[in-house]
Amino acid sequence: MKIGITGATGQLGTLVVEQLKKRTDASSLVAMVRSPEKVDGIEARAFDYEKPDQLAEALVGVDSLLLISGNEIGQRARQHKNVINAAKEAGVKWIVYTSLLRADTSTINLAQEHLTTENLLKESGISFTILRNGWYTENYTGSLSGAVEAGALIGSAGDGRISSAGRADFAEAAAVVLTSAGHEGKTYELSGDEAYTLTELAEETSKQSGKVIAYQNLPEADYSQALKSFGLPDGFADAIASWDVSASKGDLYDEGKTLSELIGHSTTPLSEVVKTALN
Ligand SMILES: NC(=O)c1ccc[n+]([C@@H]2O[C@H](COP(=O)([O-])OP(=O)(O)OC[C@H]3O[C@@H](n4cnc5c(N)ncnc54)[C@H](OP(=O)(O)O)[C@@H]3O)[C@@H](O)[C@H]2O)c1
Repeated sequence: MKIGITGATGQLGTLVVEQLKKRTDASSLVAMVRSPEKVDGIEARAFDYEKPDQLAEALVGVDSLLLISGNEIGQRARQHKNVINAAKEAGVKWIVYTSLLRADTSTINLAQEHLTTENLLKESGISFTILRNGWYTENYTGSLSGAVEAGALIGSAGDGRISSAGRADFAEAAAVVLTSAGHEGKTYELSGDEAYTLTELAEETSKQSGKVIAYQNLPEADYSQALKSFGLPDGFADAIASWDVSASKGDLYDEGKTLSELIGHSTTPLSEVVKTALN
């Protein structure tokens, strides 16, 4: 049985392949990627969501496909449709898709593309499993060294609680689902066991860095402006600030513990992800 993994050269996909290698024979894995030359140790096939003519042929012989959502915001529903159509043509039996936590009700502006993809999957007639991934803890910890330097962590999430998990935890869940039975037709809301506010993240960062890092909550427009002043492109800065506002409304909070149930252990503690980020 062949398992295809799209986005296998990305950050999540690399971790998924590592986890799959622990659970199944590497010869059954196929990286479906834009740059096959970057793949080591497993079969790799050229696969670009933007090249519909190439996709069905590349999928021949693939039984199960992990469709890792693309990273071109605004283009993804169309790109994912290309993949789903090709999978149907090639006879793929099962697609596992990485969506967004509560994509059907979330105010996060990314939700619509994910929901459209979920609906396309459901209409495709192919068996599916939807992994509604919550926020990666790395989305916040990526900027922590800057916060330590500045002595402040800024954002617009207010007192919103965030049940994020490390990429490694989401990757492990994808690998577990792809290599075990009973997941067809299911939609999993996946999030970390531990929820925190950005004030608590600043406190943990202070504790580990030995420097006082205060959380400063800013109005959305001011936070976006600050991100632009650090060199982020306008659209991305606006998007990040808007995601924090959604977090303030509870859109990144979830207490389901489905992720730790799937992987069979607690999700990586915030303190550990902060430690990795600061080192
Ligand atoms: N839950 C969260 O907090 C969160 C945060 C960020 C992103 N995401 C979503 O989760 C996905 C995986 O996250 P990540 O951290 O692994 O992101 P990433 O490192 O940016 O990886 C995205 C992957 O998608 C592939 N890709 C993009 N456009 C493609 C196309 N046209 N055809 C084929 N492959 C394409 C990329 O290929 P290349 O390797 O060739 O570039 C890359 O491997 C993201 O793409 C995004 O949809 C979720």
